[in-house]
Amino acid sequence: MNTDSPDFTLKLIQLFGGAGYSTVILIRIIPNNWVLFSIFVEKKYFPDMVHASKIKVKSYMKMADLIDANPNLLLMLQHFNIDFRVSDQTVMQLCTGYSISENLFVGIANLYNGLGPKAHPLFTRDDLVRVIEFLKQSHDYYRSDKYPQISSYIRQLQENHSAKELKLLEKFFNDYFAEVLEHLDYEDNIAFPYFIHLLKEKKSDSFRRELYSSIEYGEHHTDIELKLKDLKQLLLKYVKIENDLDLRRRLFFALYELEFDLYIHSLIEETILIPAGVSIEQEQDA
Ligand SMILES: [Fe+2]
Ligand SMILES: [Fe+2]
Repeated sequence: MNTDSPDFTLKLIQLFGGAGYSTVILIRIIPNNWVLFSIFVEKKYFPDMVHASKIKVKSYMKMADLIDANPNLLLMLQHFNIDFRVSDQTVMQLCTGYSISENLFVGIANLYNGLGPKAHPLFTRDDLVRVIEFLKQSHDYYRSDKYPQISSYIRQLQENHSAKELKLLEKFFNDYFAEVLEHLDYEDNIAFPYFIHLLKEKKSDSFRRELYSSIEYGEHHTDIELKLKDLKQLLLKYVKIENDLDLRRRLFFALYELEFDLYIHSLIEETILIPAGVSIEQEQDA
């Protein structure tokens, strides 16, 4: 074979990932030079992707027992700015103490517990303001905690191993992280301020909604967690490194934790925030 000629070898690494359809393609355009592409199609609700307890949360249940059954609820508490020392409090007592509506708290806790979103959730405007605060807190956690942690693990792996695929992996992750930052900044600076304004708007306000809408936000909303599935697949199947199991396990756990939280985060944006925004707009335009 002429090694100077382009070689369009193509590898399909993954089809039909659990959180939606996600495909990674490696294309070798010239020998030893792999280019990685990722293709994403529609996100769907896949309950099996959620490694959770499936317990339906009730107001009389003790928060400590719920956390024991599904430690991912700690992430939810953190995004609600609720302290982890929940003592013997029930869900109802905790909600009262933190002035959060039980309906909202239970709705989001059930998502974390692996139960699907409600078809027609009913939340008050105060609930929706709280949802936006929750989403912003999650953004801070992604930006300043989880992504830097994953990035540092990948860098450490790079320092310890010479596998070529690790360079590719690092580039893939850095490009992806840049996309994520753009997504989070867009929501923090454009979408969320719009929703806050909408929630406070009176019918008589001269707020020019034609400049932006909930539907426009929804149409441009992408699933930032899908590429994490690709990263895990690369690490599980293709990156050739030996040993360093501690570091690699830490990296996997961080990827799983982030993927899980991002998945719930997108569900909240798509099944709570956007439908609520659309119905407020319709109500005010009527
Ligand atoms: Fe977000
Ligand atoms: Fe988002």
